[in-house]
Formats: sequence, C-alpha cells, structure tokens
Amino acid sequence: NVLILDFGSQYTQLIARRVRELNIFCEIKPYNKPPEDLSSYKAVILSGSPFSVRADDAPHPDLSEIRGKKPLLAVCYGAQYLAHFGGGNVAPSNTREYGRANLSYIKSDEAFFEGVLEGSQVWMSHSDTIQKLPENGVVLASTHDVEHAAYRIEDESTYAIQFHPEVYHSKDGKKILENFLVNIAGLDQSWTPDAFVDMTVSELKEKIGDDKVVLGLSGGVDSTVAAVLLHKAIGKNLYCIFVNNGLLRKNEFQDVLDQYEHMGLNVKGVDASARFLDALAGESDPERKRKIIGNAFIEVFDDEAHLVQDVKWLAQGTIYPDVIESVSATGGPSATIKSHHNVGGLPDFMKLKIVEPLRMLFKDEVRRVGKSMAIGEERLGRHPFPGPGLAIRILGDITPEKVSILQEVDHIFIQGLRDWGLYDKVWQAGAMLLPVNSVGVMGDERTYEKCVALRAVESTDGMTADWVNLPYEFLQKTSNDIINKVPGVNRVVYDISSKPPATIEWE
Ligand code: XMP
Repeated sequence: NVLILDFGSQYTQLIARRVRELNIFCEIKPYNKPPEDLSSYKAVILSGSPFSVRADDAPHPDLSEIRGKKPLLAVCYGAQYLAHFGGGNVAPSNTREYGRANLSYIKSDEAFFEGVLEGSQVWMSHSDTIQKLPENGVVLASTHDVEHAAYRIEDESTYAIQFHPEVYHSKDGKKILENFLVNIAGLDQSWTPDAFVDMTVSELKEKIGDDKVVLGLSGGVDSTVAAVLLHKAIGKNLYCIFVNNGLLRKNEFQDVLDQYEHMGLNVKGVDASARFLDALAGESDPERKRKIIGNAFIEVFDDEAHLVQDVKWLAQGTIYPDVIESVSATGGPSATIKSHHNVGGLPDFMKLKIVEPLRMLFKDEVRRVGKSMAIGEERLGRHPFPGPGLAIRILGDITPEKVSILQEVDHIFIQGLRDWGLYDKVWQAGAMLLPVNSVGVMGDERTYEKCVALRAVESTDGMTADWVNLPYEFLQKTSNDIINKVPGVNRVVYDISSKPPATIEWE
C-alpha cells in the first residue's frame, strides 16, 4: 500500500490513478490529517500544491515519521518543501517553467531512472525553483531551464522531482513511478481486479456474516458491480431493489430487471411510476423536480426496505472520487462527500449500517472489476444516465404523454447509435423534449408540434464535454425516423454546444 499525501494539487488524483495502473494499491490523504498508523504503508508520495513553500500559510507537514524511514518520493511542491526546510534554497524562478521540457541530463545508472533516456519529455508546472539542493542532495536530472529537476538524498530512499510524472505529457512518468515503487520501494504489482474481487469478497463475508443487506440498483455500472460483489459474498441475503420511477428509457425497467435476474441477483422490481409522476405534476423548476424525485425515491425505498425482515445493512455503490478528502486551494481539508438526497429527518433505512464495497475504486477500475466478474458489456459499457432520468430532459412540466414521446425519440436515437457502431464512440447521449411548438407541414396539413434536441458528447468524467461530430447521414436518417415514427414531433435539432458553458443536461 502506498500513501499519497495531498497538498492540494489539481493532479493528486492522477498520481493515484497512475499508481493503480501499475497494479499497486494507494490511498490519498490530506497532508494535515495523515493516518495515525503508518505501518501498512510501504512508500509515501508527496503531491504538488498551488502554494509556494515560502508562503507562511503553505502546508508544512511533519515528516519525521516518514523521512528516512520509508521510501519517499516528493513531487514538485514536495521537492521544494524538502529543499526549503532541508538546508537548500527555493526562490521565485525568472524563466518560464510551465509545460513541456526535456531532461537534458540524466544520471542513468540510477535505479530511479532505469529505462529513461536523455531527452525524455517531462511536464513542469511551477513558479518557484530550487536554487540549492538540501543537505546531502545529489542531482539526478536537469532540463535546459531547471538544473535541479530531480535529486535524491544520499543514504536515504528519498527522491524528489520538480516535474509531474503523473501527467500524460511526461512521457516516461509512469516508468519513473514504477522505478520508484518497484525497484526502490520493493512493492509488488499484485493489485489486480481479480485480487480485488477475492479480497473484497472475503472481507464482506467477514464483516456481514449472516446479516441481511438491502441495495438500491439503478441499472448503472456502480450499483451493478457493488451488487455482484455482495452477491458473491452473501448470496441470497442480498436484497436488491430496482425502482421504476416512470422516467427511465423505453423498455429499460423490464430489460434491466431481466438482466439482473439472469445474473442470479435477488432483485425486486418496484413499479412506482404513478407515484413519481403524480408528485411531479405541474412542476417545471429543474431543482424542484430533482428534489421531488429524490424524496419519492427515499419513500419508496424505505417502504421496500421495511419489507425485508431484520435487515441490518444498506449497501451503496459509492466510488473513490466521492470519498477522497482533498485539500482545496482555498482552505483546509474539505470532505467532498456527495449527498444526493438532502431531506430533513432520516428515513429508517438510513439508520442501517452502511457497506460500500467500491469506495476505494475509480470509475475505470469499477469497470475492470465488473469485467473480471463477467458482467456483460451491455451493463458495463452503458452511457451514464442521470438519477432523475427523463424528468430533466423534458423541459417544463412533465406529463405521461411527454414521457412517452421522449422515450420513443430517445429509443430511436440510441438504437441508431448502436446500429451504426457509434454508441461506444460517444460518452453520453440523449434527447431533450423542448417546451416549444413549431409550425410544420405534413402531407397537405399544417402541423404545430413539438421540437426535440439530440445531444451526444465526448468526455472522460462529465466535468467538461464536447459535442460529437456525428456523421450527417446518421443525423439525417435519425431525424427522418423520429419525425415519421413519433406522433407529436415535427422538428429535430442537434445540440452543438460544449461544456462549459452548456451543461450536458439541459436542466
Ligand atoms: P451536467 O448536466 O451537469 O451533467 O453537465 C454532468 C453529468 O451528470 C449527470 N447529471 C446527473 N446525475 N442526478 C444524477 O444522478 C442529477 O440530478 C444529474 N444532473 C446531471 C449528467 O447526466 C451528466 O452525466
């Protein structure tokens, strides 16, 4: 296990991802709340930071239990921190030290730089520079502008680099991390999806014993993988609940239910469509729609959880990005734990003990774990779909007629993407029903009907996104199909806005 101490760099999560890609487990902790017991960590990495080490309010962690006792890799701010407080000197740099640079000198006989050649491209992002190395520092690499691009401390397993090995543009960054973690720290690369499954299943068995667990399935990747892991551990004592809120895609409720049953999960499908649609009647405000749906879900889930006798645990598909405590640039450590459903007074199921088997995994790792448990591509490769479903794709108030129009339109669009081999090239796609009627002519008749917008985006995490350049022939065919097959729609537009500023959902 590797400890990454976070000083607030925007790249800290990337360090963790690179380490995990090397099949080595690691955890991120805020520098000012380090773990009390360090014994399980075989190596420590210090992250970068938006601070200057020379600032009074900069992070000044106590490394006395780490330095010289465990292999230590200090990145960027970390490297400056060791220099500044170790007898060296850090000063504002007078040449540009952002972006691409090449290692012009490398001490290539060092295990740290094994396989890394002179000229290797690295990525810099710092405004201070290390003018003088700390005591016992030995320079290991330089660039044209940065003499102390990498150094180590004599007689310690302490290494420091000014550049960022975690970013894609540092071409040998992953190799350097591997050299440090494997050659120097002696870690083995055994953190594989299969190993995770074995370890988690036995931990779950131990933790839960013969207790009963309820879990809300959404059809999405995270809840599905969590369910399959728990099912492996406790079998029929896992009670899954899959709620139809009436805002799912066409046929989604039955299709997904069938797939879950096929996987051997103990699933109860609860059709609460009417309850959700009644609660939403007349509501047009996007945030109030979300709240109504969140509350209705809690009520339905609470009722259903009560039907399971003696249930002790609530399982959730929470993943690592939701639980990482990180240091924000503006203040102390902040817990960024998502709370989807903010309501007064806890429902009974919230009083259950919580089990979250995926809380240490990134999204792509969840997919890999799912794959190693033979969960099919139709679940793992599914586009993200928002919890409030079509409610936030029907602009304005929601009626059952609008839901069914949008389900038909969405179905034609998504099925078309699949038929044309485009589905996996798109990160997320869907259709919006606009609160606009426009004039058309069909046969000899004047029409005055609805307009739909199609949206398809590429993204990695949904934080930023760009519209996808779908083939004109595909758009043409899709538009034709929609207008010919879906009564009530006479106009189709394609959304060509990026995020930011336009969000992926229109509401
Ligand atoms: P936006 O519209 O903010 O969406 O660009 C980013 C990602 O989040 C999804 N999304 C939601 N997911 N509840 C959810 O579970 C919501 O209320 C919600 N709103 C947006 C959206 O589909 C996209 O993947």
